Amino acid sequence: MTNFSLIDGLRGIVMRGPSITESASFFEEFWGLKISHSEEDEVFFRGNGSEPIAYGLVNNPVFGIEYIHFSTKDRDSMDALYKELVKKDCTVVRQPGDFDDFSGGYGFEILDLDGRRLRFRTDALSLSEETNWGFPDKVSHVVLNTPDMEGLQNFYTSVLGFRISDYSGDQMVFLRCNSEHHTIALSRSSYPSVNHVAFDLSSIDEFMHSIGRMKQAGHNVSWGPGRHGPGNNPFAYFVSPPGFVVEFTTELQIIDEQKHKPKIWSRTDPASMDLWMTAGRPTTAQRTAMQGRPDPGFSDQNHAEER
Ligand SMILES: [Fe+2]
Repeated sequence: MTNFSLIDGLRGIVMRGPSITESASFFEEFWGLKISHSEEDEVFFRGNGSEPIAYGLVNNPVFGIEYIHFSTKDRDSMDALYKELVKKDCTVVRQPGDFDDFSGGYGFEILDLDGRRLRFRTDALSLSEETNWGFPDKVSHVVLNTPDMEGLQNFYTSVLGFRISDYSGDQMVFLRCNSEHHTIALSRSSYPSVNHVAFDLSSIDEFMHSIGRMKQAGHNVSWGPGRHGPGNNPFAYFVSPPGFVVEFTTELQIIDEQKHKPKIWSRTDPASMDLWMTAGRPTTAQRTAMQGRPDPGFSDQNHAEER
């Protein structure tokens, strides 16, 4: 793995919303995650991988992202990252220290330019990997809607050290922090919100089987299956009960740092948007859900009692 950024991976994402924990059964029974920890107002999930907080649901009056969760290789890298981000005038909302939740470890938190909370954690609980065929391994990537495309792209590249992998017209940019084509992507929008969160399956057969499991349970695909141009990854999108769009994916492109050159993919050529041209049009429900509800970000209002 290449180490151009002190951030070495995406652990996952935690979402918030009113009574959102009531949707836990959807993610457990149909989406294919397992509950790793729960309390009265929060539920956390694992996939087959070792990460205990691949996905989370936290009750809160405001829909949005509770935090995006990244890792560093070790404590020294965490301290080096913190120093670097302070030097670059980042807004710190949690000083470096040990976490006292079930995953433990060490890290800190900052806000990105749209006020999203980013949590960095290392030396955390690592679960034994599982091999449940047809179920997600981990969160693959998170796509963010932003009204400040250029500013946020600069923040993720110049401040956090991500690299640009590809563009989709002037609408989207795909960003990597390791050899995977993208862990974060940005989409131009009129307000900050979450566009979608993707979960990785180990193989194309498991990807298709996951779509089948959802269909059998009455959850129809809202866009897909198809194969994206940027990232070359098969995709199938669904609108989850809390109204957030979730994606099954697999075979995401691994970048060769010596050879890769970012490319601007066409948004008008059907074979560029969907290499197989099988996906058809996204449903209206999905288009609306992908715009998302405006997320005010981290604030005293929606975190009166900070965990
Ligand atoms: Fe995606």
